Amino acid sequence: MKVLIVGYKGSEHALAWKLHQSAKVSKIYIAPGNAGTATLGENLPFRRIVDIVDWLKINSVDLVLTCSASCLAEGLANEVEKLKIPFFGPTKAAAQIEWSKSFAKNFMREEAIPTAPFEIFSDIGRANEYVKNQSFPIVIKADGLAFGLGTVIAKDFAEAESALDKFMARKIFGDAGKIIIIEKFLEGREISIHAFCDGDNCELFPASRDYKRLLDGDKGPNTGGMGSIAPVPWVTSDMMDEIKEKIVMPTLNGLRKIGRPFTGILFPGVMITSRGPVVLELNARFGNPETQSYMRILKTDLADVLLACVNKDLKNFSIEWSNKFTCCVMVAAENYPRKYKKGIKINGLATFGDNSDVVIFQAGTKINGNDTVVDKMGRAFGVSAFGNDLNSAIIKTYKALEKIKFDGMQFRTDIGKEALILSR
Ligand code: AMP
Ligand code: GLY
Repeated sequence: MKVLIVGYKGSEHALAWKLHQSAKVSKIYIAPGNAGTATLGENLPFRRIVDIVDWLKINSVDLVLTCSASCLAEGLANEVEKLKIPFFGPTKAAAQIEWSKSFAKNFMREEAIPTAPFEIFSDIGRANEYVKNQSFPIVIKADGLAFGLGTVIAKDFAEAESALDKFMARKIFGDAGKIIIIEKFLEGREISIHAFCDGDNCELFPASRDYKRLLDGDKGPNTGGMGSIAPVPWVTSDMMDEIKEKIVMPTLNGLRKIGRPFTGILFPGVMITSRGPVVLELNARFGNPETQSYMRILKTDLADVLLACVNKDLKNFSIEWSNKFTCCVMVAAENYPRKYKKGIKINGLATFGDNSDVVIFQAGTKINGNDTVVDKMGRAFGVSAFGNDLNSAIIKTYKALEKIKFDGMQFRTDIGKEALILSR
């Protein structure tokens, strides 16, 4: 079969890498892809949905998928399905759980899915008035997609007022901040949950966790993710059962009930609180960098799982995961997430051959003559390794990183370490 992956991040490289191992997959196209995906298939030089649809009209593929929230929000699934080509992922209507947080919060309230208590505002004066009478910290979220930057945890009234001003008056995220959600701050341990879904049934992945802040100790600004681990050793099978029963199945059932059946990856961000699992956000796609860890431990042929989902056959399908652990560390350019320099040569990427336990998923890199150089996207690549336990996966990943060098490179040195402490 021929597959088209839409996207350019490390997660799309990881999906291409896994699909490339399938005997069923004869050709992989990636639009637009990156330097890593070019080694596994054919990169197509476009990213707009109209161009993808035009290309699909004259080229035959058997399946299309993406990790891009904005493509799902723009209705990529609907456009591809109009051409009678199977799409792994939700329609625009089902993906609304991710592209509108107010929709997601009202949906969760309706379905009694545990989530932080909240209020929704479209008027900045009323939002300010409300915040004045709340206790702090409090969480303020833009309704729409905001590159993962639309959430502010305000320590006091001044911070809350400034977030409301940025989102609603100065509109730094455009229409995404026209409506905002103000919700209670939750204490607990955060994990990422992924589930393959076929509209009716689901299969949960092991729990993972991503590290969103730039610096060690969860300090510094938010980023697109500086690393991930899977599975999370302190998460028990009882916790996973509870998450399936209270969060994932009610989401699937609720969406089907309102005429928006969900196919693809349901990815709730979950806080494990003293009163059980609570949803922080609902996503409708593979997470990044979580997927860079997940593809290392998925044993089943990914093409088979994707087909089982689009053919509504998940109930009769069993998915196998390796019993190993994996750790992925993202390497970013100097100054990321602010403006960074492109074109800097990266040394040592070719050190790891096909049989190595270490795999590099690329994101912001480009081939320049014989060199791989830093290109668009400040996070250049993710380095991941396997281990029989999380500690050995972490040690191997950081050992591999010693062999890679470029001017100004930055990465966190503590990916996975808090999970080790929590699991003691
Ligand atoms: P979101 O954009 O909803 O994924 O939120 C981004 C990050 O903010 C999450 O990964 C959490 O670390 C944090 N967060 C979001 N909502 C809450 C909440 N209600 N309480 C505590 N932390 C939160
Ligand atoms: N790792 C978080 C996300 O993909 O949104």
